[in-house]
Amino acid sequence: MRHLTRTMALAALTALAAPAHADGTVEVLHWWTSGGEAKAVGELKSAFDAQGGTWVDSPIAGGGGDAAMTALRARVVAGNPPTAVQLKGPGIQEWANEGALRDVQDVADAEHWDDVLPPVLADIMKFDGKYVAAPVNIHRVDWLWASPEALATAGVEAMPTTWEEFNAAADKLMAAGITPLAHGGQPWQDATVFEVVVLGIGGADFYRQALVDLDDAALRSDTMVAAFDQLRKLRGYVDPNFSGRDWNLATAMVMRGEAGFQIMGDWAKGEFLAAGMTPGEDFLCAPAPGQGYILNADSFTFFNVSGEENIKGQKVLASLIMSPEFQKTFNLAKGSIPARTDVALDDFDICAQRSHGDLLAARDAGTLVPSMAHEMAIPRSVRGEFLDLVTQFINSDMGSAEAAAQLADAVQRAM
Ligand code: BGC
Repeated sequence: MRHLTRTMALAALTALAAPAHADGTVEVLHWWTSGGEAKAVGELKSAFDAQGGTWVDSPIAGGGGDAAMTALRARVVAGNPPTAVQLKGPGIQEWANEGALRDVQDVADAEHWDDVLPPVLADIMKFDGKYVAAPVNIHRVDWLWASPEALATAGVEAMPTTWEEFNAAADKLMAAGITPLAHGGQPWQDATVFEVVVLGIGGADFYRQALVDLDDAALRSDTMVAAFDQLRKLRGYVDPNFSGRDWNLATAMVMRGEAGFQIMGDWAKGEFLAAGMTPGEDFLCAPAPGQGYILNADSFTFFNVSGEENIKGQKVLASLIMSPEFQKTFNLAKGSIPARTDVALDDFDICAQRSHGDLLAARDAGTLVPSMAHEMAIPRSVRGEFLDLVTQFINSDMGSAEAAAQLADAVQRAM
């Protein structure tokens, strides 16, 4: 009896002495390694640590997450999945379908996630009616970032609102000896610019037919040929050293005024902010030419792992990610807006306010479309065909009609 009491007292003492493990452990696989991204994920780590949990960081560098997804596959095949993984769109469904994910429906029920998430996002996070992912944000892809200094030097007076205006502004920058478009030649960046142009040239219905429904006629259409024509134009506005350049280095060219524009999602804003720059003053943001809104949301999934400590960690992380305080702090650093609809945006900047206003308007007008390049729209295998073809187009002198035909053929083969 005495022995038992002592054991219990010891156990209580041990528990007190180890608050670091009170709230679980997570190993988090993500690809947030640029300046702005690291700052944002640092917020998540600090919040998790503050709850007494243990965070094991597993960053896999590589914008857009392609390297991270390869690493994830290897970990799962080896029977050693991370506890939490940055994953999105159809990828969530694919992994859930393989039986790899644990649901966090108990957390979602207790915290009423259904009441605070836009249905379009909630649907992506669920498998078989249960939440298997927690969304952190809403990123907009179709943005134009610009250096006010470069534009002024070249005599460009306003942010372009059509592709003709964009081309005219780019010609002026070129004449002034400034690189018109900062771009990094990596397949996901090529595809990002491509989808922005597809929306801009074809509109939201066409975007949906071609990049979401994978309609053969749309892929082969004159509209697609026209989109490739504009992409060819953009290729001419890029500097010779673009191959392999990381996206944040392209953003840095705009920061330094070496380049006029960058076409990139609003994670680029995270870079400007991390460098201490203010939107509307040190850099400019405007939607890329066209009508609509390309949606990209980041989320975390919870893989099937054993051990109470790990399962606890998953629940704590899910709850933390969805807390209004965290959604605010994180998104202020990341460049995105909160996934929750009930977080006030008063402290957010003009680009975020614009994103939010345009998101609601696009939802009402039916022009809200999911990002193909950022894995919100189609299976990874088909997305891979888009990336290959678009990159091949950008790095060759392939004609636009040829590109549209080859793209349609490749998509057909992949389906
Ligand atoms: C992710 C962003 C990330 C960007 C660049 C996108 O696919 O959604 O969170 O910042 O890739 O790495």
